[in-house]
Amino acid sequence: MTSDPLVVFTPSGKRGHFPVGTPILTAARQLGVDLDSVCGGRGICSKCQITPSYGEFPKHGVTVKEDALSEWNAVEQRYDEKRGLKPGRRLGCQATVQGDVVIDVPPESQVHRQVVRKAATARAITMDPATRLYFVVVEEPDMHSPTGDLERLERALRQQWDIEAVRADLSLLSKLQPTLRKGKWEVTVAVHKDHTDRVAQIVEIWPGLHEGGLYGLAIDLGSTTIAAHLTDLETGEVKASSGLMNPQIRFGEDLMSRVSYAMMNPGGDKEMTQAVREAINDLATAIAAEAGIDPELIVETVFVCNPVMHHLLLGLDPVELGQAPFALATSESLSLPAREMDLTAINPRAQVYILPCIAGHVGADCAAVALSEEPGKSEDLVLIVDVGTNAEILLGNTSRVLACSSPTGPAFEGAQISSGQRAAPGAIERIEIDPVTKEPRFRVIGSDKWSDEEGFEADIATTGITGICGSGIIEAVAEMRMAGLLDESGLIGSAEQTGTSRCIAEGRTNAYLIHDASAEGGPRITVTQGDIRAIQLAKSALYAGARLLMDEMGVDKVDRIVLAGAFGAHISTKHAMVLGMIPDAPLDKVSSAGNAAGTGARIALCNIASRSEIERVVREITKVETAIEPKFQEHFVAANAIPHKTDPFPELAKVVTLPSPSFNTGGDDENSGRRRRRRA
Ligand code: FES
Repeated sequence: MTSDPLVVFTPSGKRGHFPVGTPILTAARQLGVDLDSVCGGRGICSKCQITPSYGEFPKHGVTVKEDALSEWNAVEQRYDEKRGLKPGRRLGCQATVQGDVVIDVPPESQVHRQVVRKAATARAITMDPATRLYFVVVEEPDMHSPTGDLERLERALRQQWDIEAVRADLSLLSKLQPTLRKGKWEVTVAVHKDHTDRVAQIVEIWPGLHEGGLYGLAIDLGSTTIAAHLTDLETGEVKASSGLMNPQIRFGEDLMSRVSYAMMNPGGDKEMTQAVREAINDLATAIAAEAGIDPELIVETVFVCNPVMHHLLLGLDPVELGQAPFALATSESLSLPAREMDLTAINPRAQVYILPCIAGHVGADCAAVALSEEPGKSEDLVLIVDVGTNAEILLGNTSRVLACSSPTGPAFEGAQISSGQRAAPGAIERIEIDPVTKEPRFRVIGSDKWSDEEGFEADIATTGITGICGSGIIEAVAEMRMAGLLDESGLIGSAEQTGTSRCIAEGRTNAYLIHDASAEGGPRITVTQGDIRAIQLAKSALYAGARLLMDEMGVDKVDRIVLAGAFGAHISTKHAMVLGMIPDAPLDKVSSAGNAAGTGARIALCNIASRSEIERVVREITKVETAIEPKFQEHFVAANAIPHKTDPFPELAKVVTLPSPSFNTGGDDENSGRRRRRRA
């Protein structure tokens, strides 16, 4: 048995015997303990911090004496004076083994640290990004053995970090010589090595030890909005999140109108490509400024998007996506230099990863939702609905996963709604209508008080009440149905039919007045018959898509439902079900996942193994094409009623009693049937 001291690492529990004098970092490496280092043990990066524990450890069978580690040395002293080390911390590359010892590796010193996602059901992301920092000491040139500076840098990476081959492009090469000399042959390089067999790339080089961080962008490129999360590639922390409207809206509000624009206008696809790339550059500049970082430190970008956005981002004509059989130029994931996509606002050698598409209508955004929500790992049958201008829908469990997309249009995002607006301060986001008095009360973004509560007026003094956002319109329509202002077919009743003067005639239809500030020059916010129709079209498309997947799976109900999407987290599940956006399910089995596509992008940014995983998962997903499926139309028509014409909603009935399906008669009698036929 060895007499060498025993070193036990926590939390991993890894242990081994090491000769006296072995640095803790070396012991950690030999045992495969996850302990970070950028400087390779030179005592300058401080990434290797550890906390030794002293005393009795019966669990580990060791007693740790005060002198179990070498004395605090000059390197640690210097670092402590300059930057400060937390009490009890040592540098793992400096402290050496002197006796049995228990070493704790704090989370921030772990290379593959876990980043806990915020959502309630979240799993952690393990940090393993494609681009990492390496500090190297490069040999100086020697006339007697002539080699280039790059070759000596390569050798240093091989010898000091086991990185076998690297490539450097011309722009990097032009920085190489001055940087090496400025750093006195000590430099930090950012090396990109992804999950493919592509040769590693040197993305950036700094003299000496670079301590300015390294960042990536996870971008959810939607038809209506572009959302970006600036993520620290060392810690996984989201430094800033920001979004802007997709400027392609001016070419067409939904995907098909953009495809038509490309078909009918020569060069139209190029115009749209340029518009979206410029917007992404603007967004990158803005988000870097918001986080206070140099945009050149953004070395990676991951995109998720639907197939039409995917093609337009890449500069590919989307015309084939507008007609059966909806062939993609490529459905595979893509790894390419950002400059090929004119992303000039970030590091010139930054790399881009685009998740794979599932099919011609089911894009990388749906793949990102699958990566984030993992339906294929669910024991129960889960329906995941990513609500947006185009809804991505997944249904599955451990045995099988199905996917489709459904063209809901922008109504759920407040567009095409008479008083609709983006979710911004001043927008009505919650609403309740008293079923007896038919009076509304509401909440606006920027205040947590209801409109009939004290202090509301003061809260909204600066923003005012400006319109209704997506979650607000969903609640408004559902509340109108529950309060008997709206019949099952979606018709708003007149003042006589509903008993409230808030139902006002507008031409041959009626509208419901929520808020009127016109006397003070403010807006008059109503829900019109046209608004109801737009919401009905959107929700019918969503429901029909979900129903189609359920048919394919051979089921009539699902075990649970996850609402995702940029505003998925804000949608009230009860109201979504009253509206019939989603199939019937116990309300406690309906949850919100927030922006699952954006989260999927962030996972792929932070962890390269997840890229291989989603590429495999996508191959196994069964695609269901809504556009050519006759049953889709059938489901769509039946889903037009609120909540539904034929599908029963027994779970909803347990919590909500809906008024008569039609006005006047109190029942769905012959007369109401005749009225509906007349309207049709
Ligand atoms: S490894 Fe860099 S300071 Fe210890």
